Amino acid sequence: MITQCLIGDVTELPGLDDLHAPQGAIGEAQRLAADAFGADKTFFIVNGSTCSIQSAVLAISKPGDKIAVSRDVHKAVIGGLILTGAYPVYIDVEVDKEFQIPLGPTPDSLRHVLDEHPDVRGVIFTNPNFYGVSPRVDLLVALTHDYDKIALIDEAHGPHLPFHKDLPLSGLEVGADLVISGAHKTLPAMTQTSFLHLKGGRVPDQDISRALKVIETTSPSYILMASLDIARKLAATQGCELLGRVIDAARKAQLKLNESRGIRCLTEEDVASKGFRHDPTKLVVSLDGLHMTGFEVAERLREKHSTEVEFADIVNIIAILTMMDTEQDISALAEALSEIAENDNQRREKAITQGSDIGSVLADLSHVLKDLPKQVMTPREAVFSKWEQVEVARATGRISADTIVPYPPGIILVCPGQEITGALRDFMVHAASCGVRFHGVKDNCVLVVA
Ligand SMILES: Cc1ncc(COP(=O)(O)O)c(C=O)c1O
Repeated sequence: MITQCLIGDVTELPGLDDLHAPQGAIGEAQRLAADAFGADKTFFIVNGSTCSIQSAVLAISKPGDKIAVSRDVHKAVIGGLILTGAYPVYIDVEVDKEFQIPLGPTPDSLRHVLDEHPDVRGVIFTNPNFYGVSPRVDLLVALTHDYDKIALIDEAHGPHLPFHKDLPLSGLEVGADLVISGAHKTLPAMTQTSFLHLKGGRVPDQDISRALKVIETTSPSYILMASLDIARKLAATQGCELLGRVIDAARKAQLKLNESRGIRCLTEEDVASKGFRHDPTKLVVSLDGLHMTGFEVAERLREKHSTEVEFADIVNIIAILTMMDTEQDISALAEALSEIAENDNQRREKAITQGSDIGSVLADLSHVLKDLPKQVMTPREAVFSKWEQVEVARATGRISADTIVPYPPGIILVCPGQEITGALRDFMVHAASCGVRFHGVKDNCVLVVA
């Protein structure tokens, strides 16, 4: 198998086309993908959705431009701003108090930013987020276009959305200008693959091609590109049927989990009243009623049930169900989680102290997210400034020279150029003491502008 992969690892030989100037097989495969997803044009990307997002940001902005970004964007967006020299203005996000997770931006929060900053070039938000929560993409895109701005949607977690009507809407269905589909996350495409879709004529495709020439490798893997074509074919021909089965099995798993003591599964009903939708293929399980953390439950699933979850934070675990999962796989996962919860309930004595710490970290995170960042300089200026290293505890009032991201949950906490407030410092100190790891914090120190 590996040997066959290695034999297939060819390069731009005659007849194999050229990703940066596609006229043959790659051009045809990209056209088929555009048809399948409902885009005007689709680019195959082999450097991850990070590359798609950064190329898109580079294509739509120049130094000094303002871009409206949802407060909970992935760090790839900030990477794009560092490359381009644009300035982020933040769109407030709603937070779910029970699950302590960010839900996303609302049309009102976007309208507020567009009124305050009529000069923004474009708007960037995520659909769905890590927890499968989708904002009202139809309203957000319509509003963005009413103000004559570019709508860029990070659908790294939603490449399957266009293929089943019971899933939240994809940005392409409502006319977003640029949509990034993270193929490797929920489609059977290899790691590092992504589709960058273009629609509607607001962004010239030449601008995307130029940006990709700067950012994407000149030696694209034909194996990765072939896997994009295979994933597109499966999604287009069998996606609806396979997803239908997964959605049914996911709903059954949600019901079963919600009957287990101490755990609770996020459902559409939890978010619908706040104006959001939920993608049932993201099984978000809150363990708030157990004495175990999400990290511990993930470890138990790995060791005792040979199951890997996508992601664990302090009180949640998230399992991504894809069209390649069977009903048996999904019900076995629900069984395993119920069994873990059952055993935990027998040892409830030890629970209390740790549980209260955990709850307060996430409450802090929601609080900190609602406090919109003070962006003192552009991310690019901050990254190119002279920096020094200071202890987190002494960083209040300093301007961050780095991106600080708690992993999990992986959303941006501090962007380069942003002032580190007392609330941010307190959150970092408290969360680190509860076991949250941070990218951008090393040996309890952060980099700040000197
Ligand atoms: C919302 C979001 N956007 C973008 C990315 C980057 O995708 P990739 O890892 O394919 O570069 C991720 C990765 O986890 C993500 O969660």
